[in-house]
Amino acid sequence: MAYKISERTLAEIDRLLKIYPQKEAVLIPALHEMQKEAGWIPEEAMDALGARLNIPYARVKGVVTFYTMFNRLPMGRFHLQVCRNISCHFAGAAGMLRHLEDKLNIKEGETTEDGLFTLSAVECLGSCGTAPVIAVNETYHENMTVEKTDRLLAELRAENNSD
Ligand code: FES
Repeated sequence: MAYKISERTLAEIDRLLKIYPQKEAVLIPALHEMQKEAGWIPEEAMDALGARLNIPYARVKGVVTFYTMFNRLPMGRFHLQVCRNISCHFAGAAGMLRHLEDKLNIKEGETTEDGLFTLSAVECLGSCGTAPVIAVNETYHENMTVEKTDRLLAELRAENNSD
């Protein structure tokens, strides 16, 4: 079945097209809007967006594949993104990533069976001064430690249970 872009996203794409007449310039912000819908971007969605912007599917897919912020698989409710670049690496990010893998019983790139957590190692999050950094969806958690990751997981579980 063909992917149906939501009315909200279509309206946002139209708004962006008025600001940026070049369709290529709209591609990345439009992909962000589409990702907000389901937390990831299926192949059919790339196809639908390409048709809407008159940009070849291969070009859309190339952009989605290039940027790690775009998800090509369904995500857990909380996407834990552990920065692995140099500042975070020297501040202990690798140990935190291993700790999270153990605690969640998944490997980097996987989602817990309950669909609650997806764990990723990502490139620099642009907050090197507060390394190590873990982003949970759009929110940064800075100056992290193993102990703080345990508290963070507990808080996220509590948040999920309260909904
Ligand atoms: S290296 Fe981790 S935020 Fe820059």
